[in-house]
Amino acid sequence: MASVKTVAVILVGGPTKGTRFRPLSFNLAKPLFPLAGQPMVHHPILACQKIPNLAKVFLIGFYEEREFTLYISALSNELKVPVMYLREEKPHGSAGGLYNFKDLLMEEEPHDIFVLNCDVCCSFPLTEMLDAHRKHGGIGTLLVKKVSRDVANEFGELVADPKTGELLHYAEKPETFVSDFINCGVYIFTTDIFSAIRDVTSTQKDRAALRRVSSVEALQFSSKATPTKFVRLDQDILTPLAGKKKLYTFETTDFWEQLKTPGMSLRCSSLYLNQYRQTSPELLAVGDGTKSPTIVGDVFIHRSAKVHPSAKLGPNVSISANARIGPGVRLIGCIVLDGVEVKENAVVIQSIVGWKSLIGRWARVQGAGNYNTKLGITILGEDVAVEDEVVVVNCIVLPHKTITSRVQDEIIL
Ligand code: GTP
Repeated sequence: MASVKTVAVILVGGPTKGTRFRPLSFNLAKPLFPLAGQPMVHHPILACQKIPNLAKVFLIGFYEEREFTLYISALSNELKVPVMYLREEKPHGSAGGLYNFKDLLMEEEPHDIFVLNCDVCCSFPLTEMLDAHRKHGGIGTLLVKKVSRDVANEFGELVADPKTGELLHYAEKPETFVSDFINCGVYIFTTDIFSAIRDVTSTQKDRAALRRVSSVEALQFSSKATPTKFVRLDQDILTPLAGKKKLYTFETTDFWEQLKTPGMSLRCSSLYLNQYRQTSPELLAVGDGTKSPTIVGDVFIHRSAKVHPSAKLGPNVSISANARIGPGVRLIGCIVLDGVEVKENAVVIQSIVGWKSLIGRWARVQGAGNYNTKLGITILGEDVAVEDEVVVVNCIVLPHKTITSRVQDEIIL
């Protein structure tokens, strides 16, 4: 088994999928939004690079190819395993997207295929999952996690055999409680997954044909129904295959979050910064305020950013390329994007500061730090200016606005 090849697929979705991520997805594909200084998709790619005998990583999505060109070409020097973007012309669903590129994936002659949702943040224990997957011999293994009972229904809930790990029952976002074990959106399948997807597609076709002949009402329903070949991994594949000794679970007790909203990107950025302590401590800034700024906790500063030594940063701060942070500035729990300028003595707390924004002298930009609520953090879109001494609290500010007086708990359009 040791020399048997694998490939990895990261499902990146497309522009119609990332709408809850606005205003941060207005001018950048969501998978490229930086978390802990690296594009969101870079974290699963790095995890894939550690899988033994991995032949290739495919990003499958329906974004324009050009949105990924720069990123992919920069990667080719940095990584040992090739990464390729494959574009679907339209969304086929998470399983349909995979099936669409079956022939290309099979050219690598893989025994197993990793499939990762792009918008999850976790430690991606892929090698451990692969070992478990090969031991039980099913067609697929899902990464699962126990969460608190009151949030479980936001995800796919599942029941697994406590002894064998077999997936016994699966329900996507159920209305009534099923289980506090949830699907993490990280899978390994043998190539038999393609027959399972094909079977669902043929069943969809049969059902559509049946509906057309039965009655006018059925005809109307069928025209509104999910189009043939739109197949979702969760509802269409996991639910029917559960309890048939084909799918197994692998539990993680490490961190795991889903990244649907801008608020969650602050949370996930801090989780990845914290992970750098173990995986890449060289990426974390150090400084005591003498020659370089005072650093508290986990902080990432891009090498092209300029930070005044009298500034104090952290914990959980990430500063992107070409940002300029002035004297006496205090940053806590924030993501500062490319080309931002923060002028002297300004304070930014629990906020995301959009590309090329300007925060004036003694200004204060702040969020409550509640990642799950709409105005729980402050988000400034691209090219926002906050004038000197102005206070912005718990606001979302759309691109190209100038804030001239105090605002609180508002969406500024
Ligand atoms: P919701 O958005 O709340 O439904 O959450 P979810 O995580 O269950 O979403 P979904 O199953 O739609 O998406 C899982 C992953 O697959 C995400 O990373 C999506 O970007 C991606 N995805 C969803 N649909 C498609 C598709 O048609 N094609 C491709 N390539 N990726 C997709």
